[in-house]
Amino acid sequence: MAKVLGVDVGGSGIKGALVDTRKGELISERIRFATDDKVKPEKAVELIAELVAEMQWNGNIGIGFPAVVKKGKALTAANISDKWIGLDVNELVAKRTGLMAYTINDADAAGYAEMQFGAGRAFQKDIVIVLTLGTGIGSAIFVRGELLPNTELGHLKIRGKIAEKRASDAVRQKKELSWKKWAVLLQEYLDELEFLFSPDVIIVGGGASKHHEKFFPHLKVSAKLLPAEQLNLAGIVGAAWYAELARKKKE
Ligand code: BGC
Repeated sequence: MAKVLGVDVGGSGIKGALVDTRKGELISERIRFATDDKVKPEKAVELIAELVAEMQWNGNIGIGFPAVVKKGKALTAANISDKWIGLDVNELVAKRTGLMAYTINDADAAGYAEMQFGAGRAFQKDIVIVLTLGTGIGSAIFVRGELLPNTELGHLKIRGKIAEKRASDAVRQKKELSWKKWAVLLQEYLDELEFLFSPDVIIVGGGASKHHEKFFPHLKVSAKLLPAEQLNLAGIVGAAWYAELARKKKE
């Protein structure tokens, strides 16, 4: 069994669990630490080290991170502290824990989890967009099973405004929108995605996905619209799975 510590760095918390990367299943309890809205590097690295200690872990770590990530480096900071920009997350975590870390954009991690173990399994020959509706809007595009990383489709502009500032789940909660009203905003966003990419399948994940029956009936799309199956575990499972993939590729 390949075991990896999967970590999901989010807008309001850091979660982690040990994952069996062959089955895509958690094999430990899930631990969550709440963080400030804009978590700073020192704090996040400290919490990841705490996860490692709590799990008594000494293997590899996969990290899903809410920014553009290239070769372990964070390149943007929409919902996290600006201090992250340019930092090598893999290196910071390795230095602090002594363990190998592999970091990937959080929505790309969730996308991998869905494509490998969730709602995307049956769509390896299609164009699939996985969205995470949470603090922001994350996106992952799979073309016949291959990920196009760092797509950042939550930053498309709709009516001149950044999409995730109009239609994320955080906006729904903050503005106390009904599911129906929120669905109107989401519809405009999905229309734009369909116009640009003509996906065969759209998988909706993130915090809102567990309430999909409340807003899916109000949406009309040409693609097959599916709720994520991994729900809020997708980030952890996908990050762990990615760590295994990245490790193998380097070998
Ligand atoms: C970030 C993305 C991230 C998404 C979901 C956006 O604000 O720019 O990198 O995937 O939020 O966390």
